[in-house]
Amino acid sequence: MDLKIYIETYGCQMNVADSQVASAILKAAGCSFTEDISKADVILINTCSVRDNAEKRVLGRLDVFRLEKKKRQGVIVGVLGCMAQRLKEKLLENPAVDFTLGPDSYRSLPAVLSFIRDRGGKMTETNLSTRETYADIEPVRTDSNGVSAFISIMRGCNNMCSYCIVPFTRGRERSRDPKSIVAEAKQLDREGYKEITLLGQNVDSYNWTDPENTTRKMNFSQLLEEVALACPKMRIRFQTSHPKDIRKGVLYTMAMYPNICPHIHLPVQSGSTRLLQKMNRKYTREDYLQKISDIRNIMPDCAITTDIIAGFCSETDEDHQQTLSLMKEVGYDSAFMFQYSQRPDTLAARRYPDDVPEEIKTQRLNEIIALQNTLSLKSNQKCIGQTYQVLVEGPSKRSENQMTGRTPQNRFCVFDSKGSKPGDFVWIKVLTCTQATLMGEIVEQPKSLIEKAEETIEEGLNDIREKIRKTIVRTKKTKDKTKKQ
Ligand code: 5AD
Ligand code: SF4
Repeated sequence: MDLKIYIETYGCQMNVADSQVASAILKAAGCSFTEDISKADVILINTCSVRDNAEKRVLGRLDVFRLEKKKRQGVIVGVLGCMAQRLKEKLLENPAVDFTLGPDSYRSLPAVLSFIRDRGGKMTETNLSTRETYADIEPVRTDSNGVSAFISIMRGCNNMCSYCIVPFTRGRERSRDPKSIVAEAKQLDREGYKEITLLGQNVDSYNWTDPENTTRKMNFSQLLEEVALACPKMRIRFQTSHPKDIRKGVLYTMAMYPNICPHIHLPVQSGSTRLLQKMNRKYTREDYLQKISDIRNIMPDCAITTDIIAGFCSETDEDHQQTLSLMKEVGYDSAFMFQYSQRPDTLAARRYPDDVPEEIKTQRLNEIIALQNTLSLKSNQKCIGQTYQVLVEGPSKRSENQMTGRTPQNRFCVFDSKGSKPGDFVWIKVLTCTQATLMGEIVEQPKSLIEKAEETIEEGLNDIREKIRKTIVRTKKTKDKTKKQ
């Protein structure tokens, strides 16, 4: 199928990974890709429904695509992802849109495109699957930096947090065959990638059962270990963890393998147990703080980041204060912070009035952001004077002579390039920082603890040798004196 495809992606990293799967399906069907919308035969937009403003942004883009269609007859526009799943044929009322395909329907892309190209008309396919994981499809990573890549390990979500639309747009949770995950990781290693992030809506509930032998099962910490062992030179990251499901086994595995990065994204959403219950998160403030204390005990150098929602249904000032106090207690390294946005058909939309006035939501969100800014600054300031291994990602936006990269804790770093290239591992001594960035310089690899211990022992031995030598000299002198007498 000789079609030029242009694809835009909105929303989470799962959507980025999905666009790469859709691209692979189209490539196998003979399509090529362009980054220039004016050259495209097909315009695809992979969409997000998680908040109302994410959907508004997509509707704005559809207006632009409509103009493109007016300019050039025959251009096909398709909406993929969560908005397609939520709105289905309703989206076809938009004159820009020719077809909608939900997250489990990407295998139909070639058939849908050739049908519309040959016969015209509009189509929608939004059946959610209980089995589709696209395990056999090797994503086409045209948009990647060649250094880090995402691997989707599961799809869907069974949690039913009351504010969240994801279970409706992405369906039931299913885990991908670990063999295909490890094979994809090894392939990325061979292609020169240096970092992989295992993706799932809730990675801690990864649970694979071999369909041919149902006694063979694998959980997330086992999968993490398999990937870490299969690619010992690659950095391994994962997200997102769920506070109700994260187990000590995952923490021990992280602590055991130096190539698993010490960073956990652990969305708290609220610091008030009353609201957490209303959100159907299935943990209390105390449970959450216990998980934080487990992380700190097992991995003292682990970065912890989070997601927070301001102004959820019935939130009082007291609840809000509890969120602020929890943030201080944990001392998050960074956070994604949102104003509650009611989503159609969710449990919250059906059960609870969206009763916190917009201006109060905004005010609380601003307070949360201001507090996080000070926490992020504190977290970065602690790094000054320390040396970290940084994976170089690419040149900095400000200067050609500077490179950017990330520490194992996922802190963003800028430094003079000194000949380093994307994909290199360098050692950076941190000199200064802002709340968002560490600024440092490339230094020699610091000595390991063993080397340091060996040096200390050697110095100690030298001291003793010197003392013995002096004693021998003194004894000799005394002996000589006695002889003369
Ligand atoms: N309103 C605001 N934020 C939301 N999130 C999910 N649903 C909503 C909503 N309805 C946030 C949560 C989640 C992140 C991906 O998006 O914090 O962790
Ligand atoms: Fe990702 Fe959720 Fe947005 Fe869908 S709704 S794109 S799953 S963040």
